[in-house]
Amino acid sequence: MSRSAHPAGPRHADVLTEGHYSAPPADLNSLDPKVWSSTVTRDKDGELTVGGLEVSRLAEEFGTPAYFLDETDFRARCRAWADAFGRDADVFYAGKAFLSRAVVRWLHEEGLNLDVCSGTELATALDAGMPAERIAFHGNNKSEAEIRRAVEAGVGRIVLDSFQEIVRVAHIAQELGKVQKAFIRVTVGVEAHTHEFIATAHEDQKFGIALAGGQAAEAVRRALKLDGIELVGIHSHIGSQIFDMAGFEVSARRVVQLLAEVRDEHGVELPEIDLGGGLGIAYTSEDDPREPHEIAKALGEIVTRECSAAGLSAPRISVEPGRAIVGPTAFTLYEVGTIKPLEGLRTYVSVDGGMSDNIRTALYDAEYSVSLVSRTSDAEPMLVRVVGKHCESGDIVVRDAFLPADLAPGDLIAVPATGAYCRSMASNYNHALRPPVVAVRDGSARVIVRRETEEDLLRLDVG
Ligand code: LLP
Repeated sequence: MSRSAHPAGPRHADVLTEGHYSAPPADLNSLDPKVWSSTVTRDKDGELTVGGLEVSRLAEEFGTPAYFLDETDFRARCRAWADAFGRDADVFYAGKAFLSRAVVRWLHEEGLNLDVCSGTELATALDAGMPAERIAFHGNNKSEAEIRRAVEAGVGRIVLDSFQEIVRVAHIAQELGKVQKAFIRVTVGVEAHTHEFIATAHEDQKFGIALAGGQAAEAVRRALKLDGIELVGIHSHIGSQIFDMAGFEVSARRVVQLLAEVRDEHGVELPEIDLGGGLGIAYTSEDDPREPHEIAKALGEIVTRECSAAGLSAPRISVEPGRAIVGPTAFTLYEVGTIKPLEGLRTYVSVDGGMSDNIRTALYDAEYSVSLVSRTSDAEPMLVRVVGKHCESGDIVVRDAFLPADLAPGDLIAVPATGAYCRSMASNYNHALRPPVVAVRDGSARVIVRRETEEDLLRLDVG
């Protein structure tokens, strides 16, 4: 079982007795391609390079902490998903994982669609030129203004999340003289094997409309009656950072069952289903994620089988990977500040960022890897906890890891697989200035989201 599929491990366990790392890795200098993006390597002097650029140069030019995003790898992952699902399916990148204008342009160029979940994500997508019909709009409490904006823009689909919203979207579309294509998001009653906060298909949570008790069937009934809505499909998203395909299988089966019920009751075959995102990535060497083509094959087979059993023609499938595309493409670069060995426990290594640039460790007990990247070292492995500079003892970036014992202030260390849900969930806690995102490709680096400045923060403070 993968470790980071179950991030909710013992919270304050002593790593020496109960921790995840029973032994240090054989070679602290090696870079596991599972957790690093594809152009990352070490140069002849032992320094880490990405897109051919050395981290010391990048740190000098862009400062630390900073996220470095490997554009080549990002585009390759987009293509891998698009190729795996082919022409009969649609891949929507989930913008919540990380969204910026540059990312929207890359997605557009690589032929992907985009899932947004707020009016501001929508604005970013439109501003960067994503055609509205390739955008899906999500959210459990979209405001009227957000719905209006989406309908006016002509988004390809709105994913309806509640009974109130079905009526709201229909009214707004009618007012605007439009018919809005929509999906209904259902909760299929699957317990996804992941952290409670990122599991979304069990019944006791805020998203979607339950299949149980006929709620979803009732939602379909209502939506089919309303002129402002063209109901095109059913949507299910079961959670995030999932490795086991079993939950997706159950979800697909139940969604197809609903399609059959709808056909029986209304004589209508809804033409599409969306099975959401949630595919896990490797945060450490122990994680074994599935490749897009394996996922496409597994989902395609289940849907085809279930549909032929129910006498339905196979619907068009869509998926919404966020983390699986952007997660592995970036690392966070930090400079080591202070080092505190605690006798008999571990060594605390403080870096110049922390929970403001990566809240996932504190929030989900997520696991990460870390490497010394400004040089190699032959020193003994030392058990460390990488912590930030915030006024909080839960300010942990990497809970348990090994770094070389000769680690010194001024060394650069990097945490891989921070492309998803790190910059997008970054905060200004302790008035931290959120780090930049720097895209690296073929020997050149450019800022795509700049570092916040003191002026940015003070401008908001109008008191
Ligand atoms: N589609 C829907 C409807 C979603 O709600 C999500 C994620 C996705 C797609 C994309 O899921 P992905 O492929 O990225 O796992 N902040 C948490 C993750 C929250 C995910 C929310 N919804 C984390 O850092 O793990």
